[in-house]
Amino acid sequence: MAKIGVVGAGYVGLTSAVCFAELGHDVIALDVDAKKITQLQNGSIPIYEPGLEDLLNKNIQNKKIYFEIEVSKLNDCDYVFLCVPTPQDTDGAADLSYVLKAVRTLSKILKKNSILVTKSTVPVNSWKSIELTLNRVDVDIVSNPEFLREGSAISDFFNPDRIVVGCKNIDSAIKVAKLYKNELAEVISTDNTSAELIKYASNSFLALKLSFVNELAALCENVQANVIDVLKGFGKDQRIGEHFISPGPGWGGSCFPKDVKALNIISEQNLSAMSLLSATIESNQKTLKRIVDKIERILDNNLVEKKIALLGLAFKANTDDVRESPAIAIAERLSDRGAKVCAFDPKVKTLVNEKIIIAKDLDECISDSEIIVLLTEWPEFKDINPETISNKLKNKVIFDTRNILIKDLWEKSGFLFFGNGR
Ligand code: UGA
Repeated sequence: MAKIGVVGAGYVGLTSAVCFAELGHDVIALDVDAKKITQLQNGSIPIYEPGLEDLLNKNIQNKKIYFEIEVSKLNDCDYVFLCVPTPQDTDGAADLSYVLKAVRTLSKILKKNSILVTKSTVPVNSWKSIELTLNRVDVDIVSNPEFLREGSAISDFFNPDRIVVGCKNIDSAIKVAKLYKNELAEVISTDNTSAELIKYASNSFLALKLSFVNELAALCENVQANVIDVLKGFGKDQRIGEHFISPGPGWGGSCFPKDVKALNIISEQNLSAMSLLSATIESNQKTLKRIVDKIERILDNNLVEKKIALLGLAFKANTDDVRESPAIAIAERLSDRGAKVCAFDPKVKTLVNEKIIIAKDLDECISDSEIIVLLTEWPEFKDINPETISNKLKNKVIFDTRNILIKDLWEKSGFLFFGNGR
């Protein structure tokens, strides 16, 4: 078993720390936020991530994990994982300052011959600045990007498609890969720069894929094709694949928007501008606009004072995260066009946004609404019975931007039903 330190108890750091503890390692997780550390040490997590709180409590009880604010407590760790944020700076590039600040402090306390692992998503070639700042010839730097999805982070940690480790010293890279104790996942051992780029390439390609299917959905509507059948026929080609091709109101979250922009800048700075990246971003903006325009068209081209019931605010299901959520962007645009926007989300209960009213329950959200618009694919929305809600609405109209509802069922109950791309 190894002694592991994790710097940054945000979504990635916390999930990784808890999962490493579950694998039997001794873990110390560190954060600068003392309030958060107390909360975590008491077994409660500040985010919604299915299963994480239970796993945390189990490992606190087993004394496999504990939380600290003092960096010096990491001085006997064999491995220290950097999981601090790399937010977007004003021009869209990733800001490395939190990473380098942490490295500066670690430089003085890391155990001899320990390994520093970069998990934060960092601009390509950041490992060079990390190495310079660290200034420790005895400590190897392994770039080990994460591929955890919010909402399914635990399962992604234990069942990764691959483990990427980049280092000058292959032995250190393999040691880090072995910490995951996973015989099934393929280990991609490479240099640091390639490992850093794999992360950006993955997120950017996934976003590109979604921009493509969202544009395809728009085309399907205009030529009267059914996007669900089109995607089935297209995804069955194994070179394309059936995963991650569901049209929606646009892609969002804390990673895709930030990472696509960052890679775009990296490509431009390195004289290899990837034009598809700006097209991917632009296309996503077009999708948001298309959804808002469609709602306006359905409501006779006039949104003024019309109550619109939005189902979902989180950027996707199984999370309470609203960062860069397409649902919020759409809600704001509807409000700007004069609509009264009322939203219900199973997990998002507060918002610093005066344009959006958050209903306490579904009934309050839909009552007297002119249209229901489903924006986040929460499974509980599939269980809404059109019969029982009919008499609460002003108009029996629903627009399912995620294509998760059964059209026939709603139409049988007298609803005017709109899907996305069908
Ligand atoms: C993403 C990546 O999928 C993870 O591999 C990566 O580790 C993570 O970013 C990160 O960099 O930390 P995440 O942001 O949690 O994970 O969300 P995704 O599940 O990838 O969804 C991103 C967006 O695409 C959401 O708005 C979602 O609703 C949308 N989406 C996803 C679709 O519209 N259709 C789909 O078929 C899939």
